[in-house]
Amino acid sequence: MIMHILGIETSCDETAAAFLQEKRGHFQLLSNVVSSQAEIHAQYGGVVPEVAARNHIAVVMPVIGEALGGKKPDAIAVTAGPGLITSLLVGVHTAKTLAYLWNVPLIAINHIEGHIYANWLEKQFAVASSRLPVFPAIVLIVSGGHTELILMKGHGNYALLGATRDDAAGECYDKAASILGLGYPGGSAIDKESRSGNPNRFPLPRPMIGSGDFEFSFSGLKTAVLYLVERLKKEKTFDAQVRADICASFQQAVADVLVAKTIAAAKKHHARAILMGGGVVANSALRAMMECTVRAELPVTQLSHPDLRYCTDNAAMIAMAGYFHARKKDFSYFHALDAMPRWQLAR
Ligand code: KG4
Ligand code: ZN
Repeated sequence: MIMHILGIETSCDETAAAFLQEKRGHFQLLSNVVSSQAEIHAQYGGVVPEVAARNHIAVVMPVIGEALGGKKPDAIAVTAGPGLITSLLVGVHTAKTLAYLWNVPLIAINHIEGHIYANWLEKQFAVASSRLPVFPAIVLIVSGGHTELILMKGHGNYALLGATRDDAAGECYDKAASILGLGYPGGSAIDKESRSGNPNRFPLPRPMIGSGDFEFSFSGLKTAVLYLVERLKKEKTFDAQVRADICASFQQAVADVLVAKTIAAAKKHHARAILMGGGVVANSALRAMMECTVRAELPVTQLSHPDLRYCTDNAAMIAMAGYFHARKKDFSYFHALDAMPRWQLAR
């Protein structure tokens, strides 16, 4: 049996479609199309929901057409939440219309679950995934809208260990970048600047690092960057090198907190794997530090982070998550499926 799944993702400002083929446990990603609106929203300094929705409407069908390349899917997996309601509606209603026209099943995918399954794209455990000792896994999700630690005991089995009480890690990156004059979205700009910076120059806070739980808080770190920049500007010592040093110090502070809590969760729950997902996982300091710490402290635990292109929003991850639902015939009823902007994957 060969199964072809069309994935559709429109939860924020990326319109994406991907076509995934599964043949006896082997996956082949036939296409992965992402149309980003980042440049459009950069002029506003953040995503404007109405503008995002209008752009999704304009490009969703061409993007899907390109992904399918004239073929027809056996099932359609679509991000139904969480995200911006107006953006989600475009993807969900497009998926419903196509599923109705083609008479194929629909699968509602939680966006966070998509970020988790990005780990199954082009990975060694993509093949015969259920046989490798991946579970229990600790999942660290760090994106523009989410910072969560999840205990995953099996496919579709999630328990929330902790989350941010205020800003998400990516949101903190974007706000710090804006304070530093690096544009929007700022995560990758801070990453780039940090390469020529000294991570030990400015002692920034590591919020909640010793709280003994799996909760996070990032708004204080953003404020610390704001006050630091204001002070240095007043003292007229804010120059390109100082900016690079602030970036590197900031990046280190975020990575320290994320790594410490992830490792603690993995130890507590005897995890066989640590999976990472979300746009912030593209961060080079976070990846390097996690790798080094896992090797030193948890040498038998597998560590997986998606390929860079599957860290930020895409539909390949939605199609992959869709496969694991389709395998269990876990389909959504056509009339019942709607956009769920606050859909929580794990509680
Ligand atoms: O997962 P994603 O594409 O969208 C959401 O679901 O939110 O994540 C986007 C976030 C943005 O905040 C962006 O600044 C951040 O990921 N990001 C990074 C890097 N690349 C993207 N943060 C730190 N370092 C990076 N290299
Ligand atoms: Zn995302």
